[in-house]
Amino acid sequence: MRGQGERRMYSEEALCEIRARTDIVEVVSGYVLLKQAGNTYKGLCPFHTEKTPSFTVSADKQLFYCFGCGVGGDVFSFVMKIENMNFGDAVRMLAERAGVALSQDESPEARAAREKRRRLYECMEAACSYYETVFAKSRDAKEARDYVKRRGLSDETARCFRLGYAPRAWDSVLTTLTGSGFLREELVAAGLIIPSKSGKGHYDRFRGRLMFPITDTSGRIIGFGGRVLDDSEPKYLNSPETALFRKGKTVYGLALAKNSIRNESRAVIVEGYMDAIMCYQFGFKNVVATLGTALTKEQADTVSRYAPQVIIAYDADAAGGAATLRGMELLAGVGAGVKIAILPQGEDPDSMLRKCGKEAFAEVLEDAKPLTAYKLHLITSQADTSKLDERIKAAKEVARVLANVESAVERVEYAGKAAKMLGVSQEAMLGDINRLVKVSGSRRVKRRSREAQDRFEASRYTSFKDDIARSDEVVQVLKAERLLLRLMWESKEVLETAAKRLKWDELSDERHRTLARAIEESQDAHPEGMGKDGLTSGQVIGLIDNGGILEYAAGILVGEDEKLPDNLKKAAEDCINVILEHHLLDRIREIEKELMSLSCTGEMQKSKELLAELGCLKKRISEELQPFRGTL
Ligand code: CTP
Ligand code: MN
Repeated sequence: MRGQGERRMYSEEALCEIRARTDIVEVVSGYVLLKQAGNTYKGLCPFHTEKTPSFTVSADKQLFYCFGCGVGGDVFSFVMKIENMNFGDAVRMLAERAGVALSQDESPEARAAREKRRRLYECMEAACSYYETVFAKSRDAKEARDYVKRRGLSDETARCFRLGYAPRAWDSVLTTLTGSGFLREELVAAGLIIPSKSGKGHYDRFRGRLMFPITDTSGRIIGFGGRVLDDSEPKYLNSPETALFRKGKTVYGLALAKNSIRNESRAVIVEGYMDAIMCYQFGFKNVVATLGTALTKEQADTVSRYAPQVIIAYDADAAGGAATLRGMELLAGVGAGVKIAILPQGEDPDSMLRKCGKEAFAEVLEDAKPLTAYKLHLITSQADTSKLDERIKAAKEVARVLANVESAVERVEYAGKAAKMLGVSQEAMLGDINRLVKVSGSRRVKRRSREAQDRFEASRYTSFKDDIARSDEVVQVLKAERLLLRLMWESKEVLETAAKRLKWDELSDERHRTLARAIEESQDAHPEGMGKDGLTSGQVIGLIDNGGILEYAAGILVGEDEKLPDNLKKAAEDCINVILEHHLLDRIREIEKELMSLSCTGEMQKSKELLAELGCLKKRISEELQPFRGTL
């Protein structure tokens, strides 16, 4: 998840320092409404749709975990996920917030790379203000100002979206920005100027165009779209892909829209710059645009991170396209409730708002159809039902769509409607659907619950029939191991007891071994501990993170049952007994099996060794477990 390259850019000390000065509860509160419940805070998960809060933030552990969707981690992972940032950007953002200086512990290459990016951002910002100023003040830009007025945008809207104008000359941005100290190579890297074919000079990429600055989610300029003021081609010219701008990853207008999207729990995705801007002007502030491309996975992920529901409001033609439908599937795949608004033929949101007004557009949004209904709408509205072969073809397509619908009730419901519209028999259609359902089976994979995950892991024991009963035992052991790890984190005394009675290799799950080692190591590094009796969470998190199991660990440490048992010591001993008993009995069973097979081949030496080990194991059971039997 976290790039190793990025990781090495910052020292463990720097990361620890940031963690120490950052409160995850405060950071998360910037995005999620949290309610306190003892030592933890709960809220609605920003990463999946839910009605009852299972998103949990632990103040003392500085970790978050959602028991609904299994997303979890530390403050860095949270920022990465919610802001759709890479690790480096999350570190920089939190460092700035916490007032931690990163520069002195950066490697020279890292510093150079960061400096280069910083210059690029500066360059884009300088270009943006230049275009803005030209638009607002220059006589040459009168044409552009008239155009904007003609299209119905107010001055305030233009300012809000920082609209600009690139003059017709071949070197305006070139001269202005080199004049402010930017190098030509920087302007090329920013995509603002282009080397001329002759190889000698450079010229401005954007000339005689209305400029739409494109920002990242925090409002920094990363690219531009430029529109001609007449009918010439290309209508829009966009920044090329640069170190800052990746078209397929970017969603236009998100920086302005993100708060409304969060507040309304709903995002609207339109196609074009003008659509997003006009929606905003009409008071629909939760609107973003995909810049004309079909919705990509990254864009879908980004938008759905801010809201559980997304409405797609593309022009009628575009919305039915195969690429757009795929984009909608992507959105549905990331867990967003997707609906499709059906615009009047020939209109886009911009033209519709201007023609029909705010209420009409609001109605279109309210009437947005769920994906399945929309697909059926497409199929049935395109078929000429007066022709038998078209009816049959459409009915087949309907069956294929409905075979993928999970709920049988929904299937029947939709089948009824579609059959009626196509004038075919409902029974026959259901027959077709059910046949397809059987063939494809249930391919949908549901997110496994913790219990189901355990059973899955336990299933490696179920390859032999007589082992099936033991899968329950394995589930119990995994549970005991998780609780023990939590207790070890909470209490130094428990940690010491556990270390005395268990070797970490005796834990049955590799991740549990890593976590146990991390907890012990951080205790060694800080024997006095911090906070109550516990450990410095920053230290442990650092170690766990290196082990690559942060998310899983967050799930354990934030706590499944939330409340810890009253008597930590007693609970820990119970856990240790369960774990030890399982480990010892398991090894005994293994040895017995091996002895059986050895008795056939007659390898004496090996058998002797195994018998000796068996003796030891049995002795351990009587010595280490029997005394506790009474307390179990
Ligand atoms: N687009 C683009 N390059 C083009 C055409 C379109 O990048 N040559 C992108 C732009 O982001 C544009 C979006 O696709 O906003 C939608 O294109 P289109 O529907 O043609 O334009 P509109 O947004 O309707 O623009 P306008 O209303 O200004 O004509
Ligand atoms: Mn348009």
